[in-house]
Amino acid sequence: MLKQTLLKATEAAAVIIKEYFDKQFTISNKEGINNLVTEVDHKSEDAIIEVIKENFPGHYILSEEVGEIIQDSEYKWIIDPIDGTVNYANGIPICCVSIGLEVSGKMEMGAVYNPFINEFFFAERGCGATMNNKKISVTDRTEVIKSCLVTGFPYTYLDLPNGPLQVFEKFIRKGVPVRRLGSAAIDLCWVAAGRFDGFYEHKLSAWDSAAGFIIVEEAGGKVTDLSGAYYNPYQPGIIASNGKIHDELIRIVNGGEI
Ligand code: IPD
Ligand code: CA
Ligand code: CA
Repeated sequence: MLKQTLLKATEAAAVIIKEYFDKQFTISNKEGINNLVTEVDHKSEDAIIEVIKENFPGHYILSEEVGEIIQDSEYKWIIDPIDGTVNYANGIPICCVSIGLEVSGKMEMGAVYNPFINEFFFAERGCGATMNNKKISVTDRTEVIKSCLVTGFPYTYLDLPNGPLQVFEKFIRKGVPVRRLGSAAIDLCWVAAGRFDGFYEHKLSAWDSAAGFIIVEEAGGKVTDLSGAYYNPYQPGIIASNGKIHDELIRIVNGGEI
């Protein structure tokens, strides 16, 4: 029932995201000059929450646009109704819906769906990760210098030592490819699918990473915070990788040389 609800909610959001993609919709600004929210983010979120409430009215919900719907429950649905909103608002089909389910403080299930290229990622704790129902797994590269990485940048400049631009510059100066897709959930899933060897980002929210986190883990990868501690989605930094380059990635993101 939990899985069915997750799939149904993901699908309900995807229908809306697709329907409005080439239509006119209103776009407004959140904190930061290009931190957008569209009418479609809200519609997608409403559809997801409706499905969850229909099936589990007593569950806790944390969703990007509405915030927290607090309930006394160990089940918490963590929702990003459109991850990659700037892409979406510009007609760039690199965006998705992302829904994670946390049970008693542990991520147990996650789904990420990009309806534009029809890629549906799913993972359940202990059962592996899939893309369109086929098992996926991380790469086995062992060196950062030979890796293909992905990252993202916050909407407002983060002025801190080893901040996003310094770390990015270091990789680029050494010729390590670092892509920037604009959707953290897709970044994580593409690590899980073996397209990237690693992903790091300095400032994410729980809804960006909740589903992707378990998808990477179940694909055999590793996810930590920037210091290397086991990942907690309620703090900002993330490093996700195939596991083999993880320690090196942590060292470099924290100021070490390549
Ligand atoms: C953003 C995307 C982006 C990341 C930002 C997020 P949104 O989410 O995941 O890749 O770099 O930090 O806020 O705003 O498109 O849901
Ligand atoms: Ca997001
Ligand atoms: Ca979003």
